[in-house]
Amino acid sequence: MTKLDMTDKMKSVLAHLQKVASTAPSLDALEKGIVESIAEQLPGYDWVGFYMLHPDDRETLVLGRFVGEPTAHVRIPVTEGICGAAVASGETVIVDDVNADPRYLSCSISTKSEIVVPIYVQGKVAGEIDIDSHNPAAFAEADRQFLEVAARFVGAYIEQHPGEA
Ligand code: SME
Repeated sequence: MTKLDMTDKMKSVLAHLQKVASTAPSLDALEKGIVESIAEQLPGYDWVGFYMLHPDDRETLVLGRFVGEPTAHVRIPVTEGICGAAVASGETVIVDDVNADPRYLSCSISTKSEIVVPIYVQGKVAGEIDIDSHNPAAFAEADRQFLEVAARFVGAYIEQHPGEA
């Protein structure tokens, strides 16, 4: 196995999340199920949270469900942060050393690396999953693949429950 491959743990978490997505009574419940499973099951995923674009102000990300230390960044303009960069590019952003990245908005002094994965709804970015790790360079291709599938579950849920977003 290489760092390119999803681990068996990631695959089993995705199987669980698929079930959560098929039974979640609300988007909030789905977010909660995802952040709790991921933070509990994946080593090095020390802060796990959702930021969704404000429905009336698509220039602002709003913090949703999260597991980890409380953050001062409850609203992030899309022009700021690693979080804003993921919206602007529409692509997953991986930062191996947050302290070397001028875009980084600090949430905890313990954070060393970060991955932000956009959530697409009908072809447009609607929000993102943000993970911080206390380990440097904690995220690789396998994490990207894993989190992009999780993000697709959320995008598909919103597409199927349009009143939720
Ligand atoms: N580090 C993020 C801000 C959110 S906190 O990590 C929870 C950023 O640079 O956008």
